[in-house]
Amino acid sequence: MRLLVTGGAGFIGANFVHGAVGEHAVTVLDALTYAGSRESLAPVDDDIRLVQGDIADAELVTKLVAEADAVVHFAAETHVDNALADPEPFLHTNVIGTYTVLEAVRRHGVRLHHISTDEVYGDLALDEPARFTAATPYNPSSPYSSTKAAADMLVRAWVRSYGVRATISNCSNNYGPYQHVEKFIPRQITNVLTGRRPKLYGAGTNVRDWIHVDDHNSAVWRILTDGQIGRTYLIGAEGERDNLSVMRTILALMDRDPDDFDHVVDRVGHDLRYAIDPSQLCDELGWKPRRTDFQEGLSATIDWYRDSESWWRPLKEQVESTYQMRGQ
Ligand code: NAD
Ligand code: TYD
Repeated sequence: MRLLVTGGAGFIGANFVHGAVGEHAVTVLDALTYAGSRESLAPVDDDIRLVQGDIADAELVTKLVAEADAVVHFAAETHVDNALADPEPFLHTNVIGTYTVLEAVRRHGVRLHHISTDEVYGDLALDEPARFTAATPYNPSSPYSSTKAAADMLVRAWVRSYGVRATISNCSNNYGPYQHVEKFIPRQITNVLTGRRPKLYGAGTNVRDWIHVDDHNSAVWRILTDGQIGRTYLIGAEGERDNLSVMRTILALMDRDPDDFDHVVDRVGHDLRYAIDPSQLCDELGWKPRRTDFQEGLSATIDWYRDSESWWRPLKEQVESTYQMRGQ
């Protein structure tokens, strides 16, 4: 397949591209914002075409889409704390950018898989067994999740109104190599590696449903190849954990004292709990996550950050000074 991967220089997109290159002709379209990195694609440099550009640039997107058999659309502004500080880029990329991609695939009749998040469903109470399913109403809380929800709605409308051949997936929190150091797990690992104290928002009771990035991407492949057009698939790996226990697991794996971290000011509107019921995807497409041993996945991720200091070190100071200004 000739694949156009938007956001392929970001965390999940780069991992996806690494897995795709042997069998497919890959073009990456990425604006290389602060979150994108050429370095993340260095292992596959000779096997891909990297185009630096904005997904909201209609002329460029239309030209690249015309040359593709399928588009896998990862590009987005993704960090909740940044969205709270300045929502505008989230509107531009997540909403106008997705609209631009949709118009291009509509025009050229190209298959689209749109990558989204479970955050579009809002949050769940800490003390209830309920999990998100495809029937859960959208109820986004943050400027990030509301722009992702808007993008999902556009995709659904373009399928229904114009017959665009698209699928959507809403995945839970990913972890693994090449994740930006602004995000929870890499921030704490690199805090320890640089002699800083890890930072926990509030009491750390908030729950996230962790999935290894390789499992997210194997599900994306299943949906891209066998998913039913117009459908939304939820991707998760039964990985619910509260932030405090993730923090303590990182500290234990890095031989630190379990209390060797700071409680910092909580995020405003902080979603309490996300949890995915992945049974529809497993039953219908026969997908199964493989990397479900969280300690093993986290330990491999810690090793990757230990061995890849040149990748993350240039980002670290700026990220921490921004957090410091916010009291986090
Ligand atoms: P990321 O922030 O690491 O990477 C985003 C990439 O998009 C970067 O390479 C950036 O340069 C690029 N980009 C941003 N604006 C662009 C624009 N206007 N034009 C072209 N490229 C642009 O994000 P990620 O964590 O890899 O997330 C990828 C996708 O997966 C997003 O759509 C996100 O909503 C979704 N998602 C992420 C998670 C998670 O835990 N990280 C979970 C579920 C879904
Ligand atoms: P994050 O990686 O930003 O993902 P999201 O908010 O999109 O789920 O944060 C994951 C959880 O970790 C979230 O509950 C906020 C919390 N958190 C901290 O406790 N400390 C931190 O330094 C960061 C960045 C996040």
